[in-house]
Amino acid sequence: MDGGDIRGAVHTNMRHDSAVKHVTGRAVYIDDMPEPPGTQHTALVLSPHAHARIVSIDKSAAETADGVSAVVTATDIPGVNDIAPVMSGEPLLADGIAQYAGMPVAAVSADTYDQAFAAASLVEVTYEELPPILSIEDAWEKEEFTYKPPKIVFGDAESAMKTSAHTVSGEVRCGGQDHFYLETHIAFAVPGEDRDITVYSSTQHPTEVQHGVSHVLGIAQNDVTIEVRRMGGGFGGKESQPTIIAGIAALLADRCGKPVKLRLRRDDDMIATGKRHDFLFKYEVGFDDTGRIESAVIDMAARSGNVADLSAGVVARALCHGNNAYFIPNALFRGWPCKTNTVSNTAFRGFGGPQGMIAIETAIEHIARDLGKSVDDVRAANYYGTDDRNVTPYGQPVTDNIMPEIVERLSREIDYEGRKKAIDDFNATHTTLKKGIALMPVKFGISFNAPMLNQAGALVHVYTDGSVHLNHGGTEMGQGLFTKVAQVVSSVFQIDIDHVKISATRTDKVPNTAPTAASAGSDLNGMAAFNAAEEIRVRMAGVAGDHFGVPADDIEFRQNRVYAGNESLSFAETAQMTWNQRVSLSATGYYRTPDISWDSETMTGSPFYYFTYGASVTEVVIDTLTGESRVLAADILQDVGASLNPAIDLGQIEGAFVQGMGWLTSEEMVWDPKGRLMTHGPSTYKIPGSRDVPPHFKVHILDDAPNRVPTIFRSKAVGEPPLMLAISVWLALRDAVSRTGDAKLM
Ligand code: MTE
Ligand code: HPA
Ligand code: MOS
Repeated sequence: MDGGDIRGAVHTNMRHDSAVKHVTGRAVYIDDMPEPPGTQHTALVLSPHAHARIVSIDKSAAETADGVSAVVTATDIPGVNDIAPVMSGEPLLADGIAQYAGMPVAAVSADTYDQAFAAASLVEVTYEELPPILSIEDAWEKEEFTYKPPKIVFGDAESAMKTSAHTVSGEVRCGGQDHFYLETHIAFAVPGEDRDITVYSSTQHPTEVQHGVSHVLGIAQNDVTIEVRRMGGGFGGKESQPTIIAGIAALLADRCGKPVKLRLRRDDDMIATGKRHDFLFKYEVGFDDTGRIESAVIDMAARSGNVADLSAGVVARALCHGNNAYFIPNALFRGWPCKTNTVSNTAFRGFGGPQGMIAIETAIEHIARDLGKSVDDVRAANYYGTDDRNVTPYGQPVTDNIMPEIVERLSREIDYEGRKKAIDDFNATHTTLKKGIALMPVKFGISFNAPMLNQAGALVHVYTDGSVHLNHGGTEMGQGLFTKVAQVVSSVFQIDIDHVKISATRTDKVPNTAPTAASAGSDLNGMAAFNAAEEIRVRMAGVAGDHFGVPADDIEFRQNRVYAGNESLSFAETAQMTWNQRVSLSATGYYRTPDISWDSETMTGSPFYYFTYGASVTEVVIDTLTGESRVLAADILQDVGASLNPAIDLGQIEGAFVQGMGWLTSEEMVWDPKGRLMTHGPSTYKIPGSRDVPPHFKVHILDDAPNRVPTIFRSKAVGEPPLMLAISVWLALRDAVSRTGDAKLM
């Protein structure tokens, strides 16, 4: 089934439904919503210490300050002080012990933000400082972990290492990353009757926020409704963290009986909420004369932070991507979720995948240097094959490998060999400036590692004027999910997309949802919405068939009309007729990803429904006197299956690449020796700006490549995979640095 001849069909360049509203400032974010009378504003009291016993809290001065409606600490929580998304024992407000500098200890609501802010400084907390664990190394050495360290074991890597002709070993680390979404965390809690509460939350996971609020307030899930129309960016930072914000807002609202808004200022957002995990890797690889890997032992130590949060998923994904696109016959990948007195790290685009790939790419480069071969030749020797070299270390067969093809096509189309030669020539004649070039292949597994998260629901209504109301469990964070799902529905009904109303995600419309994450938003919700719409379409076809006196199967939906041969009704007339016949025009849709399995004990199974593939080539230049660098050129070839919307996918690829480039170049988080984050605003934390985008930036979508498994219209996920293509920037910088001895001029 293709998209059809209507406005907004799948596979067409439909612009994001809110594009104009985004650029004209008319898109309504939570802070833009009209505030009901009595709305309260919130300020947080954050721990200044990385690790301290809370001896006492005196809130009397704050409580009597101007305009204050409530002051809450852990002891004011009527339910449980636990907002753990996966495990348990992760407090909303510090309970007895402050576990990181920036941990919320108390919160104040007042008539104005200024009053709340002033009152927060009157909350007197007495601390007794305790020795903190601040580094990955320290936690690793003391064996302080947030959960039982996992490992992937495939073959016998330690024995195989002994028989290899060559081995190399080394260490590499990668830093964390702040999400720097434009809209900081926000929640707006509005109390209703009988302790019911509605929370407008900037979240990728409304269901989890619902659960968190229900736990904290000690009320049932059906007392709590969460709504999110859109986020001003999430990037994984709003998968688990919004529960903290919504939980505090709800606690205050429940206490003072008024609507309460909690919007973090940028500094507090950066200090108090989680980021990408930084990692320390130790690797050893054994290989033959051609550079083909025979065994790999990789230790991946992640800064989990003070609690587990989503670390088990992140580390699992790092381990599952610790081989990237390469077949490794004997692998031992060990994860070490280090418990430190720093903010709990969390999901960030790629979810551990980018980190895992850094390790193996470093090892590949190391092998090439050891053998005096080109890195690209060593890569080629190690790609998955079609024969027996086609199973991942966690036991999933790789049946859709197109990596060699993609690398070959990209290399040919951009004349990679010629470019490498030009860079050699440049470096031979320049001493201060040095150029580097590198190719990065990316194979990324699509589906949540935890099979239970791979499900989705949708709700579709057709009204009697032929207009359609669409709702599903996915959330919109700028990635274009709502547009894509609306395209799916318009394609099913063959009506222009303008007739499909996109509506806010709500836990009372579609319940028990998974987070919009793992790049699976359109795969899951697109399919659920397809199923709902298809059910209604079949019913309408039945009614139209009766009307025209033909079998329902002979009814065709085309160009906003419903046909039986040459006779037709408009879609709206058919809707009205369906109602007249007392046939329901409303349906729920449900989808669960087939054929996936995962055993988190043994870390084995086939957790991914399919893989996406992409490759990039990047050229950089460094100034060897100042240390400055620029990315000069980036060329990308990315597989997105049969794209639901090539324009949106192009934007996703460009955005992800630049975001990954920021992670690996200008963005750096610095903590002082007491564990306090020093880089908590744009003056010290440098995300890429428009001028950092490579002047030559060419993104190609692999054409004619429908997904081999039946995903929604044979498309593939796109949200995260291209971020890892930016590892080519990092590799190119390493290449440039290694060329500092090249010139023969001096
Ligand atoms: N694009 C924009 N503009 N804003 C975002 O917050 N998040 C990314 C990606 N692209 C993000 C984005 C992340 S981390 C994921 S998992 C996916 O979008 C989630 O959406 P999808 O599953 O619908 O692709
Ligand atoms: N990706 C993103 N978010 C997640 C995942 C994942 O694989 N698992 C649980 N949350
Ligand atoms: Mo994305 S890190 O899976 O929200």
